[in-house]
Amino acid sequence: MKAAIIGYGKMGREIERILSERGHSVALVIDADNASDLDAEHLAGVDVALEFSTPATAYANIRTCLECGTAVVSGTTGWTERLAELQALCRERQGAMFYASNFSLGVNLLFRLNRRLAELVGRMGGYDVRIEETHHTQKKDSPSGTAITLAEEAIAGLPGKSAWVNYAPGLDHAAHRIDTPAEAPADAVVIESVREGAVPGIHTVVYEAEDDRLELRHEIKNRRTLALGAVVAAEYLCGRQGIYTMDDLLR
Ligand SMILES: NC(=O)c1ccc[n+]([C@@H]2O[C@H](COP(=O)([O-])OP(=O)(O)OC[C@H]3O[C@@H](n4cnc5c(N)ncnc54)[C@H](O)[C@@H]3O)[C@@H](O)[C@H]2O)c1
Repeated sequence: MKAAIIGYGKMGREIERILSERGHSVALVIDADNASDLDAEHLAGVDVALEFSTPATAYANIRTCLECGTAVVSGTTGWTERLAELQALCRERQGAMFYASNFSLGVNLLFRLNRRLAELVGRMGGYDVRIEETHHTQKKDSPSGTAITLAEEAIAGLPGKSAWVNYAPGLDHAAHRIDTPAEAPADAVVIESVREGAVPGIHTVVYEAEDDRLELRHEIKNRRTLALGAVVAAEYLCGRQGIYTMDDLLR
């Protein structure tokens, strides 16, 4: 497989190592200083692009890949309110695109467990839900894309919930931000975001009733598992057409 790496930061570098370990070649590396090289000429012959850049640049990068007919795997978070636009473009161009807010196998098992639990709790009633996420201090978006997915899936199962809000003390860039948990409307799932040290990612979903509390918790030990998931997704996407997620890969 001939790959392009778009975004040569922590994830891009880890992905480069795994591509090489699995016998793939890297034909193009794009970062902020050569972003204008992302064009049809440089993408010619590339089988798949792996896009892990920033919330401000992901949309344009993925769009360029689709317009140039290059299959693209992206895991960049913090911009996905525009994901549907790119999925429509992908369909129109008969391209190939794979997006996941989290490429870890364990997190995707957590998504499945959470969906099922929300459904059961929704039928039974009596429980409130909240989500806690902790990440390293360099993370540019809040809440994490993974926490948003967990919240959306909880909302789908719980009749009393219809939105999420973010309690993120000290973070100005938080989306749907509230300043204290007490401000949260009753129909909102509170996502609490903590930024500390070099933590790769911890997510906890808490279902709490008057008499007991149930928690689903996942902790990533290193970034390698995320990069490996993205490379496996790229191998899967190679030669395919359409829009894919981790559910397709796990199936
Ligand atoms: N889906 C997942 O499993 C997963 C896992 C880890 C990180 N992420 C997300 O991936 C993104 C990148 O994470 P990271 O830890 O590597 O961040 P990072 O800050 O280490 O790297 C981002 C890189 O993008 C570069 N960049 C800036 N503008 C660019 C442009 N126009 N084109 C290409 N590159 C550009 C930056 O210079 C930087 O090197 C973040 O949104 C993060 O939340 C997702």
